Amino acid sequence: MNFSEVSAIVTGGASGLGAATAEALGRKGAKVALWDMNDEKGEALAAKLGGIFCHTDVSNEESVSTAVEKTVAALGAPRILINCAGIAIGEKTIGKNGAHRLESFQKVININLVGTFNCIRLVAAEMEKNEPGQDGDRGVIINTASVAAFDGQIGQAAYTASKAGVSGMTLPIARDLMSVGIRVNTIAPGIFLTPMMMGMDDKVKDALSAMVPFPKRMGTPEEYASLAMEICRNAYLNGETIRLDGAIRMQPR
Ligand SMILES: NC(=O)c1ccc[n+]([C@@H]2O[C@H](COP(=O)([O-])OP(=O)(O)OC[C@H]3O[C@@H](n4cnc5c(N)ncnc54)[C@H](O)[C@@H]3O)[C@@H](O)[C@H]2O)c1
Repeated sequence: MNFSEVSAIVTGGASGLGAATAEALGRKGAKVALWDMNDEKGEALAAKLGGIFCHTDVSNEESVSTAVEKTVAALGAPRILINCAGIAIGEKTIGKNGAHRLESFQKVININLVGTFNCIRLVAAEMEKNEPGQDGDRGVIINTASVAAFDGQIGQAAYTASKAGVSGMTLPIARDLMSVGIRVNTIAPGIFLTPMMMGMDDKVKDALSAMVPFPKRMGTPEEYASLAMEICRNAYLNGETIRLDGAIRMQPR
């Protein structure tokens, strides 16, 4: 893939894994649109990359439609969509305060799973209009699940359900989009040092790092970005969820 000829959308691109991927794309010359709710960080990174920022709630139909229009008008039809927007909560099915709140369960599903699908469907409809490349390819989509999709911990019912959904829909969407030449893959990160994790206290961070077989540390956002770039480059990767996790298998807590 010649990155300097393409435009790319990164959801959750204002922070963490998305921001590192947007930077990697920008360094290779891609025109980048950052879709995020964090205006301050999003605007600043877009200015640095010479791209655009769209204030977007991925779970909202109208918000994503508007972002698609703005992006296509400013940068042309996208060939790359990286879905990084997401939230994490910890809440047990029955906790000290009683049953898990339904509202928080639905919120996580709505942003992580429905939001990912909302972006896929509306962006794929634009990618379909691209001129086909060598293999008939018109675009590539990368989603972000989590190792919690497979070994969810105590308090992760909602988060795990959302990420298992992202991983699970990868193959059927790749099959849906094969006729228009759009590849779909998912990265399932282990524990990465991003603002999502930096909020935790040092004890928790040390305990998490100690659970990683090798290397014994959290992943860096640049390591996530590196895999995302390779998925864009490697035209034969499709319909797959790839764990990026230092061989971690999460314990119950
Ligand atoms: N950091 C980790 O260890 C880790 C591990 C596994 C999976 N993940 C997943 O990776 C993705 C990125 O996480 P991160 O660690 O970079 O987190 P982060 O908090 O640094 O970044 C997430 C970004 O998503 C944005 N966002 C949240 N809700 C949104 C919405 N409704 N619409 C648009 N943007 C929204 C936030 O504003 C933020 O900029 C998430 O989906 C997360 O679940 C992270």
